[in-house]
Amino acid sequence: MSNVNTLELNGFVQQCTSALADNTLQRLVFSKYCGDNKELKRIAMRPVELKGLRLLSCLYEYRTNHITKNVELAEVETLCQQWLESEFQNAHLITQEWEVQLSISKKGKVLINKYRNKNVPKAGEVDAAINSEAAPHNRAKKRFVEQDRPYLRELGITDASGEIIPAMSRKWKQINKFIEVLSRAIDNTGLANNSEVHIADFGSGKAYLTFAVHDYFIDKLQVSTQVTGVELRQGLVDLCNQTATKLALTGIKFEQGDVQHFKAQGINIMIALHACDVATDYALHMGIQTGAEIIMCSPCCHKQIRPQMKSPTLLAPLLQHGIHLGQEAEMVTDGLRALLLEAHGYDTQVFEFISLEHTSKNKMILAQKRTQARDNSAILQQIADIKAFYGIEEQCLETLLG
Ligand SMILES: C[S@@+](CC[C@H](N)C(=O)[O-])C[C@H]1O[C@@H](n2cnc3c(N)ncnc32)[C@H](O)[C@@H]1O
Repeated sequence: MSNVNTLELNGFVQQCTSALADNTLQRLVFSKYCGDNKELKRIAMRPVELKGLRLLSCLYEYRTNHITKNVELAEVETLCQQWLESEFQNAHLITQEWEVQLSISKKGKVLINKYRNKNVPKAGEVDAAINSEAAPHNRAKKRFVEQDRPYLRELGITDASGEIIPAMSRKWKQINKFIEVLSRAIDNTGLANNSEVHIADFGSGKAYLTFAVHDYFIDKLQVSTQVTGVELRQGLVDLCNQTATKLALTGIKFEQGDVQHFKAQGINIMIALHACDVATDYALHMGIQTGAEIIMCSPCCHKQIRPQMKSPTLLAPLLQHGIHLGQEAEMVTDGLRALLLEAHGYDTQVFEFISLEHTSKNKMILAQKRTQARDNSAILQQIADIKAFYGIEEQCLETLLG
């Protein structure tokens, strides 16, 4: 890249170093690599503090693996200068207030776009949000996913100008809520400290959430990750693999398979969102068996328990209505799943994932692996009592756990 306008490059590097100095830098990403290393694709930097020392953590994203190196702040200016002069054609600086996009054309022309960081409230909004309990509409919305992420465009969530396509706004809310819930579980389990995290998504479908979790680890947490989406339908598997290739992503792949026969090992996060009926039980079983630190599932269609349920005499007048019996069967199925997870070493919560206004499949079972073993005999007894009360002969997850 000869003839690059160094004045503009220097100006950009200056903005990066100033953001570092005043502690407002959030991320700095160099992409469109054009140097000699055939494997390197991007370098993503974020500030970290190690043993009281402020450093920049640099995630080198290669075609097949990722490596993290920490650099001292004093080195950053020289590195940025060198990378922009000869190795990268794009850079993206994100500070608390601004985003600056730099791109260098093949002829060396430098184009810089600066715009306000959409993910933070404008000056005054924070105070307004804190002070104004009475006016919740003023409260700034914290998004866990940035709207400009390339996969959102590729999956048809955003349009060419980066705006959410109105018909996809529910999906967009679901993706954000999913990452919000997951991020808390990641904090609780300390998974962001792993050098690599393995994730399996059973019944990945069109893979909105699979791409979202991959992007969250790579881009936000800068932790190397291997994500596998498992899906029955070959057409969706091919489509999702093509999307990953188009986005030049590494560490994400889709395999055709039935969760009932899939063999997984060394999984840290097991996800099963809306996998049909007992597919959820098979996924939960696999998560427990591989010792996943986080198990996240949103059950769908509860067919196994309902025909087995005998209405206890006292409840018969309530459960004579089909809709009530269906709701009861769903509650009993997911309640038993949660108890079985508790009995197998997981702290488990069942809660509304996203409000009914956005989807009817709105329940989340979140299980986080306990670090301390405990006596589970009382829970196993509770499971036996509940089954006896409703006359339930078999629950799939319990059978799988043996
Ligand atoms: C309702 S979609 C959900 C997709 C995605 N998880 C989401 O929440 O956006 C359920 C997907 O699970 C797949 N599926 C159902 N049973 C499965 C099984 N036994 N093994 C693998 N995939 C399964 C279906 O083909 C479908 O694509």
